[in-house]
Amino acid sequence: PEPAAGSVLSLVPVLPVVVIDELAAAVPLARALVAGGLSAIELTLRTPVALDAIRAITTEVPEITVGAGTVVTPAQAAAAVGAGAAFLVSPGCTPALLDGILATGVPALPGTSTVSEVLTVLEAGLTEMKFFPAAASGGAPYLRALAGPLPQARFCPTGGITQESAPSYLGLPNVGCVGGTWLAPADVIAAGDWDEVARRAAAAVSLGG
Ligand code: 3PG
Repeated sequence: PEPAAGSVLSLVPVLPVVVIDELAAAVPLARALVAGGLSAIELTLRTPVALDAIRAITTEVPEITVGAGTVVTPAQAAAAVGAGAAFLVSPGCTPALLDGILATGVPALPGTSTVSEVLTVLEAGLTEMKFFPAAASGGAPYLRALAGPLPQARFCPTGGITQESAPSYLGLPNVGCVGGTWLAPADVIAAGDWDEVARRAAAAVSLGG
């Protein structure tokens, strides 16, 4: 299958990666991100309520673009798009997963952390990808080193990135946005502290310049 048109990297400077345990948190959390100025969310398929959360946000918070994260099988890719996901993010990529993602027809960021994985994604016709786990895999210096030989590959680094370290990635020519859980970490979600989520989102938006 051909890759879908549309850029994920240009949606937001910081993509909030979210794990939802309680379905009731999904909509207020999405509204808090919007209040802070962020118009995209990556909802991870790590909990039993994830697909319902994607459905709820898609229906009730149309101001935000909802993507599915932690997509690790072709079946999950199809199910996420069936629930309304507008884009897909995976932590890594295998040929079968890449095919399954492309078959859905929505834009995607397949996960990469090696040069060969980057080449595999480029061969599939995609130029946007996730770099994961970013900090542990070499961080900003690693991505800077890829920009020379592979300038067409553009990244959303995720994994171990913070509000403080994000600018070192965002300043690179091959980084379109960064991702992370620091905008809505588990303790803040559990406390239902939506004002805090909105504050963190606003601080992240300011990184976009
Ligand atoms: C991901 O799925 O991208 C990671 O879980 C990001 O998590 P972190 O921002 O907490 O490192």
